[in-house]
Amino acid sequence: MDFQEILLRRTIRRFQQKPLSEADFRALLNAARLASCASNRQRLRYIVAREPGRVAAILPHTAYAALVKPHRDPVPGVNSPVAFIAVTATEEPSSHLYADAGAAIQSLEFAAWERSIGCCWLASFDREKAAALLEVKDADRLLYLVALGYPAESPVREDIRGDGSPRYYLDSDDVLHVPKWTVDSITEWK
Ligand SMILES: Cc1cc2nc3c(=O)[nH]c(=O)nc-3n(C[C@H](O)[C@H](O)[C@H](O)COP(=O)(O)O)c2cc1C
Repeated sequence: MDFQEILLRRTIRRFQQKPLSEADFRALLNAARLASCASNRQRLRYIVAREPGRVAAILPHTAYAALVKPHRDPVPGVNSPVAFIAVTATEEPSSHLYADAGAAIQSLEFAAWERSIGCCWLASFDREKAAALLEVKDADRLLYLVALGYPAESPVREDIRGDGSPRYYLDSDDVLHVPKWTVDSITEWK
């Protein structure tokens, strides 16, 4: 897959109920660990939650696609994530640590897309409950979750025209449309 195809990546919130392999997880984590990070300090750590009971326990504490709620709420065992990767910090989070996590998750998402795996980066979840289920002692250090699985939906990107809106929406066929500003609408050349 070339880079232009990888850039077609979209957030996926409906998943096939097919497990990911150890090699898949390792490829994603390898991409994450090689990402840019402040001063190369590498203060992120990862937890792979893939045991079905643990994934099912975490699921109710995660939230999906607020703009089209409840249409992307996962149905457990039907289209729900098959795993979560938790991104944690080895020290109190700072803006640099959140930036590190962003770079790592973006790389992880690209590596996933290359392997035809879908991801949903999650900031909306019950941190205390998820931390307890993942055995993370300090919930503040649980920065993000990434929901994972093979896609069972095909969202489409479209460019925002004129005074359009970046709000994603579902069409009458239940396809998610993700509007993005064009380069010219967000760039000043000086
Ligand atoms: C920091 C961050 C937090 C996010 N949190 C959530 C979340 O809690 N739930 C969710 O469904 N999507 C979440 N997303 C996914 C965004 O909604 C998604 O990236 C956005 O709608 C654009 O879609 P795209 O990834 O297909 O370009 C998050 C994305 C980012 C970068």
